Amino acid sequence: MKILAIETSCDETSAAVVENGTKVLSNVIASQAKLHDKTGGVVPEVAAREHVNAIMPVIEKALTGGKVKLEKIDAIAVTYGPGLGVALVVGTSVANTLSLAMGKPLIPVKHIYGHVYAPWLEAKKAPQFPVLSLSVSGGHNELFLMKDHHEFSVLCETADDAAGEAFDKVARLLGLGYPGGPLIEAAAKKGDPHMYTFPRASFSDGRLDFSFSGVKTAVLYHLQKNKSKLKDKKFLADTAASFQIAVIDALTSRLFMMLDAHSDVREVHLTGGVSANTALREAIERGLKIWNKQNDMKVIFRVPAQMPFCTDNAAMIGAAAYFQYMKSPERYKEWRFVEPRAAFVA
Ligand code: KG4
Ligand code: ZN
Repeated sequence: MKILAIETSCDETSAAVVENGTKVLSNVIASQAKLHDKTGGVVPEVAAREHVNAIMPVIEKALTGGKVKLEKIDAIAVTYGPGLGVALVVGTSVANTLSLAMGKPLIPVKHIYGHVYAPWLEAKKAPQFPVLSLSVSGGHNELFLMKDHHEFSVLCETADDAAGEAFDKVARLLGLGYPGGPLIEAAAKKGDPHMYTFPRASFSDGRLDFSFSGVKTAVLYHLQKNKSKLKDKKFLADTAASFQIAVIDALTSRLFMMLDAHSDVREVHLTGGVSANTALREAIERGLKIWNKQNDMKVIFRVPAQMPFCTDNAAMIGAAAYFQYMKSPERYKEWRFVEPRAAFVA
């Protein structure tokens, strides 16, 4: 089954052709990052205008690259939310129109489930359930337990800012640019992660949700206190590294607590834009090695097979759509208009 997938939830216009949820025939991503660098973040209307300009050429490129004609596509998938409302409208409008005009089933996909399905793309061996999936993005941060395809339990979610958002905001404070994640990661490589201690927030009521607004504020106060050092490269690198380790600790501590609590888990997955972060990957890999040894287990750690599958892309939407469709194909027989939804409902 060949799916043409469309993704326009934030600042990447993307279209892909994915076969049977795993084989990526094409995955075209037009990033607006350079444009948003000027404003230090995404201005929704600016993003929407760029999506309008890019969407048709990107779809054409995906079909050409995938060597498939639109008539030969079996279904169309689209991200309907969560995301920026004005950006989602562009992708859903095109997907609604194409599917109605071509008489193809239309599969609406939640963006976050797209991220969770990224490890299925080009996987040498299909992932085995149950999967503990840590999805860390700019807009969202969830730890899911997946017992089967599209059976998600949310174990932890973010109470305020997502980790990626914290990376972006701290990068702005440090004057590094947008998107902040890769820039902080690069700066942190030259810094000492133990130079400063930033908070690893937890809740007094015992709930294990993530919270990253405190660490961002702590960095802000730290910079205000050290105004004279703002041009000092060593100071900025140490700050970046100390911030990064605080975020990594907060993410990994929840992950391993939940792994302890769900001993039948066979794989741990890391997805979303922040999964591109090498230090985070290494921390989980190291931790899992020790955990496996201590518990005499062989839990596998998996990240998306290619870097472009980590940040926003349409191929992951094609993967999530395929497994969603296979669960109940009859649901897609009757054509239904797909409405964009900015907010996330699990
Ligand atoms: O998943 P994604 O592309 O978009 C959302 O769904 O939000 O994630 C984008 C986020 C941005 O906040 C970006 O700074 C972060 O992922 N990111 C990283 C890295 N690459 C991207 N964060 C840390 N380290 C990276 N290497
Ligand atoms: Zn995303």
